[in-house]
Amino acid sequence: MDNMIRLEFMSLTQNEAFARSVAAAFIAPLDPTVEELADVRTAVSEAVTNAIIHGYRRRRGMVSMLLTLKGRLFTARIEDKGCGIEDIELAMRPFYTTGNRDERSGMGFAVMAAFMDGLHVESKVGEGTAVTMEKLISRREEECEGGAERESLEPCEGCAECESREPCEGCAEREKSEGLEAGAAFGKIENG
Ligand SMILES: Nc1ncnc2c1ncn2[C@@H]1O[C@H](COP(=O)(O)OP(=O)(O)OP(=O)(O)O)[C@@H](O)[C@H]1O
Ligand SMILES: [Mg+2]
Repeated sequence: MDNMIRLEFMSLTQNEAFARSVAAAFIAPLDPTVEELADVRTAVSEAVTNAIIHGYRRRRGMVSMLLTLKGRLFTARIEDKGCGIEDIELAMRPFYTTGNRDERSGMGFAVMAAFMDGLHVESKVGEGTAVTMEKLISRREEECEGGAERESLEPCEGCAECESREPCEGCAEREKSEGLEAGAAFGKIENG
C-alpha cells in the first residue's frame, strides 16, 4: 500500500496534537500495534514541537509535514523555515538543549531515534531544518478467524493484543483442528 500526504500548518503549539493525530491516522490502515502507534505519535510530536519552539522561537511561520507509505515503510518529514541548527551533531546529543532547562530536557532527538528505525536531520542556519524519520510497521502474526473480523467480534487469544481474553470460537476451532492435525502427523511418523 503506497500513500502520501502533505500538511502545512502555522507554528502554533496547539497544532502539534493535530499533526501527531494525522500521523497516527495515516498509518492506521496498516493495523499497527498500540506500541508502534505510540512511537510514531511521540516521534512526530517531538519533531513538530522542535520546529515550533526552536525553529521559529517567537516568530510565526509554517511547518510542513510530509507523510509517505511505501509498503509497510512509514516516513515522516517535518520541515520548518526557521533559524536552523548550527551544529547538528551537538544538537542531537542526549541532554543537549538551547531551551529553558526547566522546560526542556534535551531528549527530543534521542526519543525520535529510539522510537523510529531511522532519523536524519538536515539544517542550514537562517534557512531552516528538515527532520526525516522512518519506521517499518510490523506485519501481525497470523490472525485467527475472530481476529480478522475484529470489528464485529470480540478479540480472542489468537490475536496478538489480547492474551488475557477468552479464545473466540474461531481460535477454539483452530486449536482443535491444529491439535488433531499435529496428532495425525505424529501418529504417521510413529507408525511409519
Ligand atoms: N527545528 C529546529 N530548529 C532549530 N533548532 C532546533 C530544531 N530542533 C532542534 N533544535 C535544537 O536542538 C536542540 C536539541 O533538541 P531536542 O529536541 O533533542 O531537545 P529540546 O527540544 O531542547 O528538549 P526536549 O525535546 O527534551 O523538550 C534544541 O535545544 C535546539 O537547540
Ligand atoms: Mg525537543
